[in-house]
Amino acid sequence: MPIVLRMHHVGRSFDAPGGPVSILSHVDLELRSGEAVAIGGPSGCGKSTLLLMAGTLDTPSSGVIEILGENPWILSANRLARFRNQHIGFVFQEHRLLPQLNVLENVLIPLLSGFEADKPSAEKRAKELLDRVGLKDRLKHRPAALSGGERQRVAVCRALVLQPSLLLADEPTGNLDPQTAGVIGKLLLDVAAENGTGLLCVTHSTSLATSFPQRMTLEDGRLVKADLGLV
Ligand SMILES: Nc1ncnc2c1ncn2[C@@H]1O[C@H](COP(=O)(O)OP(=O)(O)OP(=O)(O)O)[C@@H](O)[C@H]1O
Ligand SMILES: [Mg+2]
Repeated sequence: MPIVLRMHHVGRSFDAPGGPVSILSHVDLELRSGEAVAIGGPSGCGKSTLLLMAGTLDTPSSGVIEILGENPWILSANRLARFRNQHIGFVFQEHRLLPQLNVLENVLIPLLSGFEADKPSAEKRAKELLDRVGLKDRLKHRPAALSGGERQRVAVCRALVLQPSLLLADEPTGNLDPQTAGVIGKLLLDVAAENGTGLLCVTHSTSLATSFPQRMTLEDGRLVKADLGLV
C-alpha cells in the first residue's frame, strides 16, 4: 500500500521568553493507505501540534514531512490550500465550523477552494454522511443552533466529504456521550477502510483507542508504540 504520510525526524519548537521550547523532537511515522493509528499522550505533549503539521497547517522546525510522496511546503499558498482540501480531511479539537453557514454548507466547505470537485456527488455524499451521524434533519441549521456534540459530528462529515487520502482527527469524540462517540469512532474507521484512507486519530478515550488496529503515544517528543491503554 502506498505511503500517505511520512514524517521523518520531525521536530517542532516554539519561541518563548527564555528561548525556544522544544515540544516535539524526533517524530518518525509512516502511515499507509488503509492504516488507522490512534495517538495518545498527556495534555500538552504535542498531539495537536503533530496533527497540524501532518495536515500542513503548521510547519515543522526540523525534519521532513511528505504527503502522498510530495513536499507540500514548496507549494504556493493557493496550491497548498487546494492540495489540502483535495487530499486531507481534518477534524479539529474545536470544531471550527463557520457560524454564518448552515450545516450542509459547512460540510461542503472543502469544495470552496477552487479545485474541480463534482458538486452534485459531493452534496449527495454530504447528505449521506449527515444521515449516518443522525443529523439529516439539521441540514439548514446554523452551528449556533446545535449542541457541541452535534457540531463535532458536522465537523467529522466535513472532513470526510471529499474522501481524503489522509484523515486527521483531533479528539473527535471529546464532546460526545459514549454512544455517539462509538458511532463517530466507527464511522471514521469504516470510511477510512472503505476508501483506503490513512487515518491518524488523537484520543484520550481508551474505548476509541482500543478500536484502532494500531496505537501510539507521544513520549518525550517522540512517537512510540503503545501496547496498553492510552493516557
Ligand atoms: N503556536 C504556539 N506557540 C507557542 N506554544 C505553542 C503553540 N502551539 C502549541 N504550543 C505549546 O506546545 C505544547 C503542546 O501543545 P499541543 O496543543 O500540541 O498539546 P496537546 O498534546 O494537543 O494537548 P491537549 O491534550 O491538551 O490537547 C503546549 O505546551 C502548548 O502551549
Ligand atoms: Mg490537543
